[in-house]
Amino acid sequence: MELAQTTSSTADCAGACRSCPAVGSCPDRIVCRCLKVTEAVVIDAIVTLGLRTVKEVRKATEAGDGCTCCHKEIAAYLAVYSPSSSPSMC
Ligand code: FES
Repeated sequence: MELAQTTSSTADCAGACRSCPAVGSCPDRIVCRCLKVTEAVVIDAIVTLGLRTVKEVRKATEAGDGCTCCHKEIAAYLAVYSPSSSPSMC
């Protein structure tokens, strides 16, 4: 009897499944659907540039410059990866 593979990887979902744990588990995951900015881009900008606010992430990556629905999600990335532990929404 052969078991079905149940692993989930970026190759399977191409970052579009939205079923990966929210922060840091799927580099190809689209964080900002309006501007098509991926998790990898957002995390890299936060870490390498030491970003602390959603406004700074918007300026560096353009994520969040559309409908603004992703601002809460960007704040979640800031909470984990920013040098600051209390991200600002603007
Ligand atoms: S989803 Fe990011 S601005 Fe619309």
